[in-house]
Amino acid sequence: MKLNLKYTEKFIELSEKENLQKTADDSNNKLHDKTGKGNDFLGWVELPNVIKNELIEDIEKTAKEIRKNIDTMVVIGIGGSYLGAKAVIEALSDNFSYLKSENKMQVVFAGQNLSEDYLYELRELLKNKSYGLCVISKSGTTTEPAVAFRILKKDIEEKYGKAQARKRIIAITDKQKGALKKLAQIEGYKTYEIADDIGGRFSVLTPVGLLPIAIAGFDIKQIIEGAKNIYKKSADNNSENYAIIRNTLYNKGFTIEMMANYNPKLHYFAEWWKQLYGESEGKEHKGIFPASVDFTSDLHSMGQYIQDGKRNLFETTISVKEPKYKLTLPENEENLDNLNYLSGKRIDYINKNAELGTTLAHVSGGVPNIKIEIPELNEYYIGELIYFFEKACGISAYMLDVNPFDQPGVEDYKRNMFALLGKPGFESENLLK
Ligand code: PA5
Repeated sequence: MKLNLKYTEKFIELSEKENLQKTADDSNNKLHDKTGKGNDFLGWVELPNVIKNELIEDIEKTAKEIRKNIDTMVVIGIGGSYLGAKAVIEALSDNFSYLKSENKMQVVFAGQNLSEDYLYELRELLKNKSYGLCVISKSGTTTEPAVAFRILKKDIEEKYGKAQARKRIIAITDKQKGALKKLAQIEGYKTYEIADDIGGRFSVLTPVGLLPIAIAGFDIKQIIEGAKNIYKKSADNNSENYAIIRNTLYNKGFTIEMMANYNPKLHYFAEWWKQLYGESEGKEHKGIFPASVDFTSDLHSMGQYIQDGKRNLFETTISVKEPKYKLTLPENEENLDNLNYLSGKRIDYINKNAELGTTLAHVSGGVPNIKIEIPELNEYYIGELIYFFEKACGISAYMLDVNPFDQPGVEDYKRNMFALLGKPGFESENLLK
């Protein structure tokens, strides 16, 4: 991957970047020396280098077994226990894989919302499928996945009988504590552990992300290789440079960062990135607000605002150099659509020019653009992107002087919800105070 900062230059003085260099270096060092805030959650920093081959092989073996025996895997989880796997699977899958019969294995998700219709419709789908459940929750107590698992566990036990159902359920959870760990032990489910020192949104390179990705049929070794490559190159400091640029822009009033893609397969990658940055940085009334757009679709909905609205936005574009397939625009004799000037050109040629034209327009309209280029969308480069963004997130949050690894703000809605639902222990919460 390459970090291209050309389109930020007119917005930033060299001295502004230099002023932040030392803070960025210190922040990077704090991640490695474990001297910063939340330093008991830094297991992900060395992970690409220390992840055990036996674990990867065990995950691959489990995934192979599952792919042999079942056709639909329901992955139950929310937040960091959902978005990494969803992002990678969407990025690497055929756009229409769910409609193509040759794709025997489907990975579907549950527990990432509380929609009754979603669960009802999922249960209807599963009636005619040979399915399994992969329930992921570090704490083992999160309401959304717990609700989904209770319902789907009952169904799967009714369909296959308790003993067979146990063989179709996998739990990924905390090493020792939590309700899910206890249940998994009692039921004897195949279980993978989430290390104590790796928080949810930094857990995609653990079984939390790797197992669902392997079940979907992708090469998890290549993902780790990509992550390892960025880890090794930390001297090149792409992550530090990205953190410096975004913090420099933030200090100049650019308080919203929009991740843009020109390939719909990256939609969920931006969702993963939004959680990573939003939950890590948005604290103590500080932090860049992470948003995302899918271009060119959203140029026809958000384009006006981006070009011409309030000037507090900057854009981070993920640019994929080569698509997987080749397709050219045919010549048309009548040319009623006036497109013959593009006859014989690749669709990607049109897309790339849309990308360049948009970047130039946004930059001249006052929207700085950070470009992150990858040669193609595959496991290796997704692995690079994951580790690059994780590392930059840790550095960036330390530069803001916040703890990247907690999420105290998430508890407020839960307290209210529990009080409203009458959860024992929450009766005294006064919602109107
Ligand atoms: O990043 C985080 O810590 C959160 O987004 C969690 O991953 C999310 O709340 C789910 O938590 P759990 O895995 O404990 O169910």
